[in-house]
Formats: sequence, C-alpha cells, structure tokens
Amino acid sequence: MKAVVITEQGAAPRSVDIAKPQPGAGEVLVKVRASSINGFDTAVVAGYLAAMMEHRYPVVLGKDFAGTVEAVGAGVTRFAVGDTVFGVVTKAFLGDGGFGEYVTVPQAIGIAKLPDGVDVNVAGALGLAGTAAVDALDAVAPRAGETVLISGATGGVGAIAVQYAAAAGATVIATAKPGAETEFVRGLGAHTVVDHTGDLPAQVRAASPAGVDAVLHLAGDSATLITLLTEKGRIASTLGPVEHPASTAVMATPTETTLDRLAGDLAAGRLTVPVAGTYSLDEVPAAFADFAGGTLGKISITVA
Ligand SMILES: NC(=O)c1ccc[n+]([C@@H]2O[C@H](COP(=O)([O-])OP(=O)(O)OC[C@H]3O[C@@H](n4cnc5c(N)ncnc54)[C@H](OP(=O)(O)O)[C@@H]3O)[C@@H](O)[C@H]2O)c1
Repeated sequence: MKAVVITEQGAAPRSVDIAKPQPGAGEVLVKVRASSINGFDTAVVAGYLAAMMEHRYPVVLGKDFAGTVEAVGAGVTRFAVGDTVFGVVTKAFLGDGGFGEYVTVPQAIGIAKLPDGVDVNVAGALGLAGTAAVDALDAVAPRAGETVLISGATGGVGAIAVQYAAAAGATVIATAKPGAETEFVRGLGAHTVVDHTGDLPAQVRAASPAGVDAVLHLAGDSATLITLLTEKGRIASTLGPVEHPASTAVMATPTETTLDRLAGDLAAGRLTVPVAGTYSLDEVPAAFADFAGGTLGKISITVA
C-alpha cells in the first residue's frame, strides 16, 4: 500500500510502498479515506518523541483517520466490515498511522462509528483536535456565565474549543491576529478577540477586569496566561505541565464516549470542523510546510 513515512530518525516524510497491514486480535483494519495534520506529526518528524516512544520503522505518520472497516481481527465485537469509522491511532508504539491506505487500530480505544451524513474528509480532521478540545474543556469545566480565555483559538484544537466553550454558556475570549483570524474566531462563537501579537494581558484585563475563570493554553506563554486568572481560576494546557495549583496537563484520550460525542455533534450541526486546506498523500510535505506557517482550523489529507 501507499503510505507517507519516515524511514529513520531525522528523515524527511516521503511516500513509499509498504505491506498492507493485517489486523491482530482485537484490531480493526480500516481502509483510510482521510486524515489530517496535527502538531504530534510535526513532533514525530522533528524527533521529539524519539526518546519517549518505541518507533517501528518505517513509521507511518498521521494520528487521525476516517474510512471504512475492511476486516476485523479475532475477538472484535464493536465493529463489522463495511462500517464507516473515524478516530485517532492510539498504540503504545509509533509505526501505524493514518497517512497510509490502510491502518490497524485496536477496537478498545481511538475508534468510533461515524453517523450517516458526516463528510468523511471532515471526520478525518476531527479525532485528535476534537478530543484535545473536549479533554481540555472538561479539565476546566466552565460554567455558564464564567469567562474562558482560549489562547491558540485559531488552530485545530482552538477552533473546536471555542465552539464548545460558547455552547456551555461561557463568555469566550479568544486569541487571534487582526483581520481574517479575528473574523474566523468570532464566527465560531468568540465574544471578545484579543491580539496575541500585541499586549495580551492589557487586552484581557480590559475585557474582563476581575480576571478570567479559566484558560485553555493551546499556544503562547503559560506564565503570562496564569497571571490573568481569578483567585479560583483553572488552566488546562495541551502543551505540558503549567506552574499553577489548579492546572491540568491534557493528554488527549480518544475514548468511545468522546469520539461519539464529537461525531454526534458534527452530525447534528452543533459543531463544525473548519478545514483550511485539503492535500493528497503526495502533497503531505507541502501540507507540513503550510501547517507550520499557521492555518485557520485544520489541514485535511485525502488518502483515497
Ligand atoms: N497534549 C495533547 O494530547 C495534544 C493534543 C492535540 C494537540 N496538542 C498540542 O496543542 C497545540 C494546539 O494544537 P493545534 O492542533 O490546535 O495546533 P495548531 O493548529 O498549530 O494551532 C495553534 C494556533 O496557535 C496560534 N498561535 C501561535 N502562537 C500563538 C500565541 N503566542 N498566542 C496565541 N495563539 C498563538 C497559531 O496561529 P497564528 O500563529 O497564525 O496566530 C495557530 O493557529 C499544539 O502544540 C499541539 O501539538 C496536544
């Protein structure tokens, strides 16, 4: 099958032909139709995970996937051949990914059925970003009427978090540059937009003089962000530990419950996944470059 891989540490991603995987016990073989780029993929390519996770080369890139169940391994009960599914490749090692024509995933974590009517290309951009947004918001649990500052609101995670925070009844302050980025986050439900290239603390204090009840740290400087919290404020970060007593370092965990919620909200029109661009497998190197330059929402990869 065709896949975009790194063949060794430090190698650039490239398209190769490798053997089609076979599902082991408890695994589902998915014929992938779409995926997307996440910061995780750039971290793998940069070698940041080399000391943290076993790499089984060639490492197929891509955490996200959406497609059709092609076969199931022994003991698989939740999925059947022909099901349309999506999710996040979640294994103890790096090697299998969504930037290939087929991927095997465990039925136990990181896969859910896709309701009818959901665009598979959109679903392929939903899994990791959506899970991170849900987990980060769950960690700070904003109540109606509370103020939430979302730092990194224009990215894949932020675009989903803004919508969920607004739907929870929170007043959302979102970071964005002036112009199209500001319009983008307003369109997703942000009440106030602050420009992170200017004096962010001054703008946030002007909007919420008593401080903010919660911060989602998806980008920017956490040390600055914690100074904007109220006394009982909470912060959740997808970037790592933050020096604050009420902080959570989010490790996105794509449970069936979370993926079902995301897919259900997408199907019901309660959630949109903004896709800034769509690239083929052959165009993945260009997609990485564009992702690094900053995108509004997600970059989708069409696999088949
Ligand atoms: N822990 C986990 O399980 C987990 C899961 C998913 C993602 N993540 C991480 O969470 C982060 C966000 O993910 P993502 O997929 O949304 O990334 P992304 O799509 O690259 O979005 C990041 C956004 O932050 C903006 N930004 C850059 N510098 C900023 C600053 N100083 N203040 C405010 N905004 C700024 C960027 O826009 P401009 O530069 O154009 O303004 C960009 O739109 C990434 O670091 C990713 O690796 C972690």
